[in-house]
Amino acid sequence: MIKVGVNGYGVIGRRIADAVVLQPDMVLKGIAKVRADYKARLAKEKNYDLYAADDKSLKSFSEVGLNPKGVLNDLLEEVDVVVDATPGGIGAQNNPIYQKFNKKAIFEGGEKHALTGFSFVTQCNFNDAIGKRSIRVVSCNTTALCRVLNALDQGFKIKRARVVIVRRAADPDDTKRGPIDAVVLDPVALPSHHGPDVRTVLPNIDIVTMALKIPTTNMHLHSLIVSVKEKVNEDKVRDVLRNTTRILLLNSKEGIDSTAKVIDMAREIGRPRNDLYEVPVWEDSIKVVDDEIYFYIGVHQEAIVIPENMDAIRALIGGYSKEESIGITNKTLGIR
Ligand SMILES: NC(=O)c1ccc[n+]([C@@H]2O[C@H](COP(=O)([O-])OP(=O)(O)OC[C@H]3O[C@@H](n4cnc5c(N)ncnc54)[C@H](OP(=O)(O)O)[C@@H]3O)[C@@H](O)[C@H]2O)c1
Repeated sequence: MIKVGVNGYGVIGRRIADAVVLQPDMVLKGIAKVRADYKARLAKEKNYDLYAADDKSLKSFSEVGLNPKGVLNDLLEEVDVVVDATPGGIGAQNNPIYQKFNKKAIFEGGEKHALTGFSFVTQCNFNDAIGKRSIRVVSCNTTALCRVLNALDQGFKIKRARVVIVRRAADPDDTKRGPIDAVVLDPVALPSHHGPDVRTVLPNIDIVTMALKIPTTNMHLHSLIVSVKEKVNEDKVRDVLRNTTRILLLNSKEGIDSTAKVIDMAREIGRPRNDLYEVPVWEDSIKVVDDEIYFYIGVHQEAIVIPENMDAIRALIGGYSKEESIGITNKTLGIR
């Protein structure tokens, strides 16, 4: 069994912890966080071993009777791999501690590529990650773009990809971020950082991205225009995407014509927290004009990187093929 610790128990860390518990080859050794809040209490109710981020938070946990097993350093003694799901930039501060304890570490998309020198998306580069000490699972938007562009590149050889990203302003539990009544150009000076981030995983893709932020919490939505070298039509595009794991074709004829409907569908199929791990692609949006493919995809930002984190753990430990890891992760998370 691979012994896993999760440092950071927010939007992503909570989901990673729950997913680790579902893996037949992993054991969750505990979670670490800063505040002694309801999330800490509920983790305890799930029988997760609770650790405080440092001595200061240890005191506040004890004051409310949560009695953690120790601090982050104590958790690190117990694990083979630590998944750092702390806010962007904090992972880089934690890395020297993981190195001191000689532990393998996974970081999330809020960290810079340079922190580990390896940015991970299962379908694109699982094999190259095998045995590394540390890797970065890329952000939600980058994960979605890499899954889709990798499939199209294998199918038709991409000439260039141009993408407009409409981003959710905040996660559902985040009451601090906005806007609440505006469309924000994010950034105004183009291009956005998403294109270069895709190239940390798929260096040969010519991609330029723009991004806007809107007052929703549920999902991001991307409009893509992808030019390809090989002869293509709508049916061929649909076939390639349909046959790619972790991509889900949806059709507006079934009434799914918004991000709200996608989340409602995820709720209806019984996913925990409404999580959609797959990239939804509106199959009836796919339009081919000359060598250009036009279509829309969605990104459930809270969920999409969870399968990648399970595969990243196996890649660092070694002994699994990409297909084996995808198979186990998909089965345990209910990805069809
Ligand atoms: N949210 C998304 O949509 C999303 C999607 C993909 C990737 N990511 C990436 O995943 C990572 C985690 O993001 P998140 O949205 O899960 O963050 P989050 O909800 O803010 O949770 C962060 C967690 O880290 C803990 N933490 C540990 N050390 C900390 C410190 N020194 N300062 C502040 N908090 C500390 C917090 O503890 P407390 O709970 O005690 O405060 C909290 O549990 C980031 O790299 C982010 O870019 C996020």
